Amino acid sequence: MNTRLIAARVLSRVLQDGQSLTAALESALQSVESGKDRAFIQALCYGVCRYYHRLDFILSELLDKPIKDLGVKALALVGLYQLKYMRVKPHAAVSETVLAARKKPWAKALINALLRGYLREQDSLEQKADNVQYAAVSHPDWLIKQIEQDWPQQAQQILLENNQQPPMALRVNLARISRDQYLQQLSEQGIEAVAVSFCPSAIILDKPATVDLLPGFAEGLVSVQDTAAQLAAGLLDVQAGHRVLDVCAAPGGKAAHLLECQPHTRELVAVDIDASRMQRVSDNLQRLKLSARLVVGDAATPQDWWDGQFFDRILLDAPCSALGVIRRHPDIKLLRRAEDIKPLQALQLNILHAIWPLLAPGGIMLYATCSILKQENEQQIDAFLAEHPDAVELPIDVAWGYAGSHGRQIMTGESAMDGFYYARLGKS
Ligand SMILES: C[S@@+](CC[C@H](N)C(=O)[O-])C[C@H]1O[C@@H](n2cnc3c(N)ncnc32)[C@H](O)[C@@H]1O
Repeated sequence: MNTRLIAARVLSRVLQDGQSLTAALESALQSVESGKDRAFIQALCYGVCRYYHRLDFILSELLDKPIKDLGVKALALVGLYQLKYMRVKPHAAVSETVLAARKKPWAKALINALLRGYLREQDSLEQKADNVQYAAVSHPDWLIKQIEQDWPQQAQQILLENNQQPPMALRVNLARISRDQYLQQLSEQGIEAVAVSFCPSAIILDKPATVDLLPGFAEGLVSVQDTAAQLAAGLLDVQAGHRVLDVCAAPGGKAAHLLECQPHTRELVAVDIDASRMQRVSDNLQRLKLSARLVVGDAATPQDWWDGQFFDRILLDAPCSALGVIRRHPDIKLLRRAEDIKPLQALQLNILHAIWPLLAPGGIMLYATCSILKQENEQQIDAFLAEHPDAVELPIDVAWGYAGSHGRQIMTGESAMDGFYYARLGKS
């Protein structure tokens, strides 16, 4: 099948059905054999989501009335994306995209006219887009306002970073190999990479690579994980003999890292509400030759699964808006709504309150999100501390991130990291 048509179908699943780009792509790519075609479809889909708001503005300038058929609209966006952002020859981009619409003659004519119209008026259309904020930065209005409200100084940079392609970061399994030794193995494979100075396990690849090209991946020497997520283990500081709880644990990246850092952990209990995601925790731990007790359960109702024994350390990597990882999941800009934030906040606070009694006196709980919104981060810690006199905030003395009223905020793109938040809470 025509690669542009496959990309348009994936995009209409996102636009029309609200499916995530990851899920829509995964099922569509199953039937595509050529690696080159898969990469092209992926680039089109990620690119259109990343620049959706700008492309949509340009499309509206080229049209008298909006295209009601979302499949055809998606194809028009795929066409515009190629012309503006890809190194496809313009005549090939136009003719191949028109060909993808061949089953609908009206759409064929429309897409042909649209794409040729864009090529004729490209400079003035792009200039117009630069003068309208949501199109210029390619974000929905509500999100621009929210970011500007929370981070007036950093907002422009955050919006820019959200549209970048993120680097591929690796976590070296330090229980099995040193970072220098692994860098040596990468170099022998011709893979260029650098160590991250402030995170002992992290490596950033110069160019993304498929995991089967990474030495020792199948044997568990290394995992794919952003540097920001790798900072959790250092902050939780698990000691030999500790009993550890990881709530909201799937797919298990941080749980695995905790076990790699402290092989003498007494027990790690990983809880997640989603059974299918929990299977991924199991697969990851198996590859890394690690073990944990896996519990499918609701973090907000520990009475359903807790055995009554306290934990010395708790990681709560809360369900969140994921606005810190937009560069990895640009469909978030299309799918997330302003009204999603309040219910997420309520859930986060519920889980915080429900889990706190499980922490042993003298224990540490680490609250984390991959969000940059204060409502999900420092404001939650503020609300939590106000209700728990036995909780104290513990300092995070590090060189990365911003110190807010509570915890530490990593801005998207800082030292090539995802946007992330951490707060450490100790029980007196
Ligand atoms: C940010 S992800 C966790 C990532 C994970 N800590 C890691 O490092 O791989 C949030 C997880 O919370 C889970 N979740 C959402 N609501 C939950 C609840 N009420 N109880 C338990 N888990 C929940 C989701 O299924 C999702 O896997």
